[in-house]
Amino acid sequence: MAIHTTSRTRTQQAIELEEHYGAHNYHPLPVVLDRGQGVFVWDVEGKRYYDFLSAYSAVNQGHCHPRLVKVMQEQATRMTLTSRAFYNSVLGEYARTVCTLFGYDRMLPMNTGAEAVETAIKMARKWGYEQKGIAKGQAKIIVCEGNFHGRTITIVSMSTDPDSQGGFGPFTPGFEVIPYDDIPALEKALEDPNVCAFLVEPIQGEKGVYVPADDYIPRAIAACKARNVLFIADEIQTGIARTGRLLASCHNNGCGCPTGMCDQRQGVPRPDVVILAKALSGGMYPVSAVLASDAVMNVFTPGTHGSTYGGNPMGAQLAMEALAIVQDERLTENAERLGHLFRAEMQKLVDEFPYVKLVRGKGLLNAVVIESRTAADGAPKTAWELCLLLRDNGLLAKPTHGDIIRFAPPLVITEEQLMECCRIIALSVRQFA
Ligand SMILES: Cc1ncc(COP(=O)(O)O)c(C=O)c1O
Repeated sequence: MAIHTTSRTRTQQAIELEEHYGAHNYHPLPVVLDRGQGVFVWDVEGKRYYDFLSAYSAVNQGHCHPRLVKVMQEQATRMTLTSRAFYNSVLGEYARTVCTLFGYDRMLPMNTGAEAVETAIKMARKWGYEQKGIAKGQAKIIVCEGNFHGRTITIVSMSTDPDSQGGFGPFTPGFEVIPYDDIPALEKALEDPNVCAFLVEPIQGEKGVYVPADDYIPRAIAACKARNVLFIADEIQTGIARTGRLLASCHNNGCGCPTGMCDQRQGVPRPDVVILAKALSGGMYPVSAVLASDAVMNVFTPGTHGSTYGGNPMGAQLAMEALAIVQDERLTENAERLGHLFRAEMQKLVDEFPYVKLVRGKGLLNAVVIESRTAADGAPKTAWELCLLLRDNGLLAKPTHGDIIRFAPPLVITEEQLMECCRIIALSVRQFA
């Protein structure tokens, strides 16, 4: 393994330990991170990098945001966990905050993204039986090719990625897969009266930042409404300002909200159910949530669903503060503005270098597609090698699906920092020739 450091020892030791004792379910870029602040992370050798992954869009508010650190410290000495056997003094306020901000009646708190997706699936099925009258055991959920909703058995049951699914059967039935960004395919699938929900990412992040047609989400919402089917937006990666809107499903819905904070979205096409995680807690602690109307959420009654840590006071305090930071620091607007700038700079590279194929994205969730080549000496030249060059030049990003590099910095990044990052990327692309 190629190890990049000025003094190998601490980096190599950490990698060797992790490789020896840890399960090999990831293939990390060889860099050992030790500290983070805002848009920057430092490795164990003290080298500083721009973070252009943001822990898969969990650290939208920047690493170790001082307001989040303060809240965490205060709550840690007061109370961290009660379970839901009792009420706690924070959860109600948190539920009100999140429901008011996103414009939903009720919130169900969980921890990881996958748990929240599972929650939405259970909710949709129960709603299908109790409210829509689907016959017992027949409920179906439509999902899209190329989806990524997490790693549980039920979630990988609906995956079309062989790596996610291979070897893990038998799978959970009850899913129908249709092509992404294909309204006729959705309309056809919706003809089945046993369909209770359509679960979709407004932009397919893990697949490589696939942005659908502008009118796809609003049209899909309308098609679901016409068939009494729940539209479930998985906004785990795209939500909380990442794409230049509070939710990515706010794009092109005609609400004209000037600030991108969409607490007054009545009357515009909006998801019936929204799933949030990742940046909901600004990278401090796993916090996820499912938002829905009374009619949908009330299918859950005591004993039908839960989680020991879900709704704990620590997570609730952090989520409230994380959302307040998004508003106070106008991260939605920053993502929107700097996203345009970033794509314009990347387009210059696409125009100049034939092996930089294209740039796509919204806000500060972007991807650049790299053509894989073989150098004259036979060495591979793939997105992975480019990421190693980026690392050497002080910027961390990760390839996905072999030829795609996702660029998703913390949303607190300034224009000056972003332009410096564009220069680092341009330099690395040049060295990649
Ligand atoms: C769209 C989407 N859904 C669900 C998940 C799963 O979230 P978690 O890793 O917290 O379980 C992810 C994680 O990358 C995601 O991007």
